[in-house]
Amino acid sequence: MKILMTGGTGFVGTTLTRELTAKGHSVTVLMRKVESGVGLPPGANSLEGDPTIRGAWQERVPEHEAFINLAGASIFTRWTDEAKHAIRESRILTTRNLVEALAPRKGKETHLFSTSAVGYYGFHGDEDPIEESPPGTDFLATLAREWEAEAVKAKEHGVRVVLCRFGIVMGRNGGMLGEIVPIFRMFLGANLGSGNQWLSWVHEMDLARIFFFLLENRGLEGPLNCTAPEPVRNREFTETLGKVLGVPTFLPPVPGFMLRLMKGEFGAVILKGQRVLPRRILAAGFQFRYPTLIEALTEILRK
Ligand SMILES: NC(=O)c1ccc[n+]([C@@H]2O[C@H](COP(=O)([O-])OP(=O)(O)OC[C@H]3O[C@@H](n4cnc5c(N)ncnc54)[C@H](OP(=O)(O)O)[C@@H]3O)[C@@H](O)[C@H]2O)c1
Repeated sequence: MKILMTGGTGFVGTTLTRELTAKGHSVTVLMRKVESGVGLPPGANSLEGDPTIRGAWQERVPEHEAFINLAGASIFTRWTDEAKHAIRESRILTTRNLVEALAPRKGKETHLFSTSAVGYYGFHGDEDPIEESPPGTDFLATLAREWEAEAVKAKEHGVRVVLCRFGIVMGRNGGMLGEIVPIFRMFLGANLGSGNQWLSWVHEMDLARIFFFLLENRGLEGPLNCTAPEPVRNREFTETLGKVLGVPTFLPPVPGFMLRLMKGEFGAVILKGQRVLPRRILAAGFQFRYPTLIEALTEILRK
């Protein structure tokens, strides 16, 4: 299939591009600077354009059949007002401009897989939000709701829209593990705050396999939790990562106030979480290769 991907140079996009092209799909990666696409795998090509700005790139959109929308400024930063503005605008404007460019596809089979995140549900204790649960009201939840609302507008052009609510993606070359594995390797791994907060996560290869599944199972649309079936508490995450790396994790927990000092509002988010289950994708018959954290981390971090 001819696929166009925004954010395809990032952590998730690089894996997806590699796996989709290996399966014989043709992937066009839309990127703001074409140099960032050096090293694209065979079967992938680059298209230069800033997705947050209307432009000539939009004319190339209708020649594709499926769209994977990943672009957005990183949330793993201190949330100043400026950073929050960039986090929001980069996602809303990219999605709006992409959807606008889909208008000429009316009448042709078209698939939009737009990213969202489990942050959509806001913060929960032990209850399990499902795809139909209402959104939260904090910054990430509001962002996810608005991001999804922009994607859903593609239905006006007859497009099938899937809203992929990612959990934290575990992979070899970046994301959360890229940030914390070096800290654990220095024997500084510890629980964050109480350690009770839930972490909903997914192995990057299972995420790629979810996209293959969605390309084949065309009846699936709407919101879809892309998370492993066994979320963990922060305490279990710390212990499992320490075990897989063979490093001790008996330091006292990082106090909540310190996280809030270091990371601002994002620090407070790290201390909360949600236990999200992949109800719809399991009901559709998808099978996870890495359902448990120990299996996922062992595969990712093996030498
Ligand atoms: N990683 C996770 O655990 C996780 C969890 C939940 C949701 N998500 C969401 O999944 C998507 C992909 O995640 P990722 O970890 O792969 O992100 P990433 O590595 O930060 O890559 C995001 C891509 O977005 C583009 N981008 C960055 N800043 C931008 C801006 N200001 N305006 C327009 N485009 C910009 C970049 O592409 P170019 O420089 O080539 O334009 C970049 O390669 C993100 O939207 C993220 O919020 C990720």
